[in-house]
Amino acid sequence: PPLDEILNLHDFEAVAKVTLPDKAWAYYSSASDDEIAIRENRASYQRVWFLPRILRDVTSVDWSTTILGKPSSLPVYISATALGKLGHPDGELNLTKAAGKHGIIQMIPTLASCSFDEIVDAAQPNQPLFLQLYVNRDREVTKKYVQHAERRGVSALFITVDAPQLGRREKDMRMKFVDDGAGAKVQEGQSDVKKDQGVARAISSFIDPSLAWKDIPWFRSITKMPIVLKGVATPQDAILALEAGVQGIVLSNHGGRQLDSARSGLENLVDIVAALKTRGPWPNPNFSVFVDGGVRRASDVLKALALGASAVGVGRGFLYAFSSYGQEGVEKAIEILRDEFEMGLRLLGINSLKELGPEFVDASALHAK
Ligand code: FNR
Repeated sequence: PPLDEILNLHDFEAVAKVTLPDKAWAYYSSASDDEIAIRENRASYQRVWFLPRILRDVTSVDWSTTILGKPSSLPVYISATALGKLGHPDGELNLTKAAGKHGIIQMIPTLASCSFDEIVDAAQPNQPLFLQLYVNRDREVTKKYVQHAERRGVSALFITVDAPQLGRREKDMRMKFVDDGAGAKVQEGQSDVKKDQGVARAISSFIDPSLAWKDIPWFRSITKMPIVLKGVATPQDAILALEAGVQGIVLSNHGGRQLDSARSGLENLVDIVAALKTRGPWPNPNFSVFVDGGVRRASDVLKALALGASAVGVGRGFLYAFSSYGQEGVEKAIEILRDEFEMGLRLLGINSLKELGPEFVDASALHAK
């Protein structure tokens, strides 16, 4: 269908499902084992209810924010999703250009199909970018990559901590890895590509499973970028992250692609915010809590923000948008979210995101009995 018939982010998924090659659809849509976590990511948002206020003059509404000190026109960033060229010949550049035009922030994946420099070159001057890091067994490779990113102006480092081994995404594993160029760039300097177990496993064998809390000071020593741990699920680990001196955490189960039945980021948010409140100021200006997984509507984002998130990551929503429609699709997705935020703020009775707090939601059914 033409782009102007797309009304929401779910529509992009429906189009991608029927237009993407089997291999791309399998890699993008798959989640681990029985795909319970991916289903609950969506379902958890449907267990939070709004408590809107009325008669509060909502003529002017503003949903812009800052994320790790960088301006963002939406309280949403584009989360890292690997292998963009499986879905579209321009791969991740579709995201970079659309993000630059509309003032949102893209997190560049370590396993991008386009090279890191191609992506940064496609960005506008001063366009903020984040970097997602898979840590290499060879720490010199990681050090060079991180320091190069910092020199090129990347403003934050998101270290993925929920993937010491890739989850079993069986839809993807049924596909054999054929090197058709989509993954060519990411394999530079990596050995041991296993070609018989799907795309994800073929490209991930360099990831270091020995990564541990004791390594965090090393990351802090090699970069001045703010560091965020992506893939935190418990209050215990949230507090360890705070104590380790990093600048934030992403509550995420990796879009349901790692440990199946890992609880959704939104469900974990409530317990983690409660724990962080016992350990210092809240909101903490030096420690951000992000959430991702299953977010497809501004209303999802508003629920997470009300419960204490600083901003929310979207993966597949943007991935499906560019797979079907390239850069224009991503722009359309951003415009759809923008319209949804405008309506969402007005109907909640708030003028800006600063006014949003837990009193705007009923989360009593969030932890399903
Ligand atoms: C991902 N995600 C991911 N995360 C990461 O840290 N490094 C990576 O290389 C990837 N690659 C990747 C590929 C694909 C196809 C998907 C769908 C996801 C996880 C991603 O950053 C984010 O956590 C989830 O996508 C969020 O869930 P939604 O928005 O896809 O539901």
